[in-house]
Amino acid sequence: MKFLLFLLFTLSGLNALDEFTSSQVCQKCHPVIYNEYYQSQHRKASIFSDPVHKAVWDKHPFKKKGIYECAKCHTPNDKVILTKLKNHEKALPVKNRGQLEGVSCVSCHNIKSIQKHSQSNVNIITTNKHILYSARESEKSNNDKKYKMQKSLFGFVNKESGSPYHDIDFTNEIFYNGNVCMGCHSHKENSHKLQVCTSKISEHPNTEKENCITCHMPKVPGSFTTLRDTHTHRFHGFSGPNHKASMLRKYLSIEFQKATDGFNIILKNSANHPLLLHPLRVGMLKVSIESGSKKSNLKPVKFIRIIGKNGHPTPPWVATEVLKDTQIQAKERRIIHFKRTLEAHDKVIVQVGEFIVNPKMAKKLNISNNNLTAFRIFKEERFDVK
Ligand code: HEC
Ligand code: HEC
Ligand code: HEC
Ligand code: HEC
Ligand code: HEC
Repeated sequence: MKFLLFLLFTLSGLNALDEFTSSQVCQKCHPVIYNEYYQSQHRKASIFSDPVHKAVWDKHPFKKKGIYECAKCHTPNDKVILTKLKNHEKALPVKNRGQLEGVSCVSCHNIKSIQKHSQSNVNIITTNKHILYSARESEKSNNDKKYKMQKSLFGFVNKESGSPYHDIDFTNEIFYNGNVCMGCHSHKENSHKLQVCTSKISEHPNTEKENCITCHMPKVPGSFTTLRDTHTHRFHGFSGPNHKASMLRKYLSIEFQKATDGFNIILKNSANHPLLLHPLRVGMLKVSIESGSKKSNLKPVKFIRIIGKNGHPTPPWVATEVLKDTQIQAKERRIIHFKRTLEAHDKVIVQVGEFIVNPKMAKKLNISNNNLTAFRIFKEERFDVK
């Protein structure tokens, strides 16, 4: 073990969390978390790993101008691009390590604070090269946990604490209340001052009890490090429409209610943001009725936010207004009425789901991958009519 550590130190530079430390360095001691991160949209955020991001970028007017302004949130480790953009030079993505790691381990664990701006917020990164931020209730006042090895009385048992690779600052509030996510996930305004996407989080702020972390990074079994057994860790696959959406199912409830001229389906969103956020997404409610051996499908109901100009839908960079917004809002209890009389013993099958890419937009974006344009069931319930 000692030799291994020695090797690791010399290979990566003693405690040097330099300009950009590759997630592969962290993988050595945090393999479970690394494997989850590897499957996540965060690792896949670049044009090289996300075909949807690439398709939109290929149509974006900034591509011709050579300004990959998406780097700020999609590939924050590509310091070459970010430095060039800062100096108003042209910069387009090339397949380097910073691009391929997307939103990497240090992209989050080095965020000191979030600066608010109208265009989009900015992550302020720590200049302390030795420190990573994290949350642990029992150490909340410790701003510099260092590695310690204590020998027991007879020198037989070594008790270790801290990490031999990095120090840890447990005092950063944003790692407890989820606001660490708000540098990239709060909102994005286009050049016409329209918020093309927004989580409207100021209406339902994160709290320590319930926030982005508690829902999207639940505690799951498995140690967070190989150097000791912590039994659980925070899920780093970041469940969402693209990956493991089923982990979020419990935050949407579906109720059935008989009414005089038909019935109601009631959807309750417990999230503190609209259920779907990205302008490419479409949500959908599909209801079908089984009556004996007959099955009939009712007209599906769409949940969509359309942006555009002069009353017509446009790409995000052209849009000046929100034309329509029927997305299920934060904490909303949406009642959807169906005028259809039911018989005793009918079965009502309710599916709520989404399209990653609005099928209408897919054609314009030349996206033909069926997986991205197909209806994905998020949650399904069956109700027996009494
Ligand atoms: C302020 C931060 C920010 C900037 C700048 C930004 N994005 Fe994003 N982008 C995000 C976030 C956060 C998501 C995830 C949103 C979600 O899933 O609702 C996202 C998701 C996307 C998606 C959907 C990906 C998928 O797999 O479905 C596309 C497409 C996209 N961005 C395109 C772009 C392009 C093109 C640019 C640059 C012209 C850009 N973004 C700039 C934050 C940003
Ligand atoms: C999108 C942001 C983000 C990324 C990317 C990310 N983390 Fe985390 N990580 C967090 C947050 C936030 C917490 C704190 C959660 C808490 O304990 O409340 C955390 C917690 C942790 C913990 C400790 C607690 C636990 O129970 O799991 C470890 C260890 C960790 N991360 C390592 C990593 C490694 C290694 C990577 C890359 C493979 C990584 N993280 C990538 C945001 C991130
Ligand atoms: C040589 C092994 C080693 C390497 C390499 C390493 N870590 Fe750790 N890390 C640990 C150990 C051990 C702990 C637990 C410390 C403790 O319990 O006191 C830890 C703790 C953490 C925590 C805080 C856990 C908590 O309790 O909230 C985070 C976050 C973290 N590491 C992230 C990273 C990231 C990101 C990298 C890569 C830049 C990395 N680590 C590289 C061994 C390592
Ligand atoms: C109470 C639980 C809960 C909380 C708190 C929560 N979310 Fe969500 N989030 C959800 C659910 C449920 C979905 C819908 C997933 C789906 O339909 O596939 C979702 C979806 C998302 C998506 C994907 C949206 C899209 O259109 O692609 C992103 C990104 C996201 N959440 C980020 C966040 C951030 C950032 C925060 C903190 C401000 C947060 N969430 C807080 C439950 C929660
Ligand atoms: C450095 C910017 C950045 C930070 C910080 C960040 N994200 Fe993201 N996140 C993104 C981008 C960019 C995407 C979209 C990637 C893509 O699909 O191309 C994304 C996608 C997601 C998704 C969608 C996953 C899916 O399956 O579609 C979820 C959920 C999410 N992030 C949650 C979080 C949470 C929770 C935090 C805070 C702990 C966080 N993010 C912090 C940039 C960030």
